Amino acid sequence: MVVAAERIRTLNKYEKSILNALERGMKRYAWVPLEYIKSATKLSESEVNYRLSRLIEWGMVRFNPVPYDGYSLVFGGYDTLALTALTRNGIITALGSRIGEGKESVVYEALGLGPVAIKFHRVGQRSFSSARLNRDYMPEEGHCPWLIASRKSAEREFQALTSLHPKVSVPLPVGQNRHTVVMALIHGKNLIHCRLQEPKEVLDEILSNTRIAYQEGIIHADLSEYNILMEEGRCIIIDWPQWIGTSHQNAQSILERDVDNILTFFKRKYKVQYDRGDAIRCVID
Ligand SMILES: Nc1ncnc2c1ncn2[C@@H]1O[C@H](COP(=O)(O)OP(=O)(O)OP(=O)(O)O)[C@@H](O)[C@H]1O
Ligand SMILES: [Mg+2]
Repeated sequence: MVVAAERIRTLNKYEKSILNALERGMKRYAWVPLEYIKSATKLSESEVNYRLSRLIEWGMVRFNPVPYDGYSLVFGGYDTLALTALTRNGIITALGSRIGEGKESVVYEALGLGPVAIKFHRVGQRSFSSARLNRDYMPEEGHCPWLIASRKSAEREFQALTSLHPKVSVPLPVGQNRHTVVMALIHGKNLIHCRLQEPKEVLDEILSNTRIAYQEGIIHADLSEYNILMEEGRCIIIDWPQWIGTSHQNAQSILERDVDNILTFFKRKYKVQYDRGDAIRCVID
């Protein structure tokens, strides 16, 4: 759940200043001491305590009494910092309803210059060790691995979208802040929920986009029917944070896995026969 947008509008300057201080403090501490927050915000202890109790109640901050009184941002607080910055920069003017939720993200509709989607990355909220297995950029240690990993994940996704759009059919990237990516809103359905009239043509289109991405040095690495949206008969490939470069040591096998996922889906659902070797050559030759 993303913290309510109305709540963000009613946050006062002390509360914003405490969230900012916590974000800075978390570079040094897993649990930021009260003393640090007091000196960073220059607020009195009673003011800090009162504001912190509200932030805790709103699901933005967590308190831990052992071995000393410490406070930490949670995703709700990090969401608030990102949304505040995106609003200040005019990238977002209103947050709408939730349109998607995956293993490691939640996606909302929003308004910016036009309709946009905002993806909040949530790496490590469930199992950190399994997240680390899938992503070679995960921090090994540190005070706050979920925060760093979620931000890195969003930065990587934005980097892929920026490099690939418009040569490859991906959502137009609009902005990025902390653990969020703002991109064009796609008005369409996931491939998994479609009944295609011309499945072979859509498969060709996916392979040809995979080929252009490959020529740009990028392999999706989580390509499947779940990460393809269909908009007006056109496919759009989403969900890029785990992309790898074509010079990665496992590039060949990861690319083959991507191609296999797609071929298997078209074979199972539409009985489309496509030679595996031809499909792989179509991407890399
Ligand atoms: N730009 C967009 N426009 C419209 N809907 C989107 C957009 N981006 C994502 N969605 C919706 O949100 C869902 C989840 O997005 P995405 O696949 O990027 O993340 P994810 O599946 O949570 O990632 P993970 O692989 O970590 O679980 C998508 O299946 C799709 O329905
Ligand atoms: Mg996905």
